Amino acid sequence: MTSPEIEIILDHYRNPRNYGDLPDATVRAKDSNPLCGDVVEMHLKIEGDRIVDVRFKGKGCAISQASASMLTERIKGMSLEDARKLGRDDVIEMLGVQLSPVRVKCATLSLKVLKLAIYAHMGKQFEEQET
Ligand code: FES
Repeated sequence: MTSPEIEIILDHYRNPRNYGDLPDATVRAKDSNPLCGDVVEMHLKIEGDRIVDVRFKGKGCAISQASASMLTERIKGMSLEDARKLGRDDVIEMLGVQLSPVRVKCATLSLKVLKLAIYAHMGKQFEEQET
């Protein structure tokens, strides 16, 4: 018998939320887990200081893909400031299960990609202000 938390993870893995391309994304980021090569790509539409829409694509284990799916639900509509503050513990809490150190890398792949996207957005804004 599986726990309700595992069932939720498997449901996100099988029916990922916010999956696919976001044609009008303002920023995109992608990264992989060097241990296994699993990939997460995130597309964000940022307006002002808010993430107004998000999609992700990826390939990999249930934990990496389910955490990406859950993270997209969590950050849609969130301010950049709050999204920047999300950390490893938030992702683990979102999944609701105990994770080994190797599995923590799976769980935080999407968080890393989110941060890459946010910093890429900030870099673009800085460049626009300077030119
Ligand atoms: Fe590759 Fe989980 S085994 S991210």
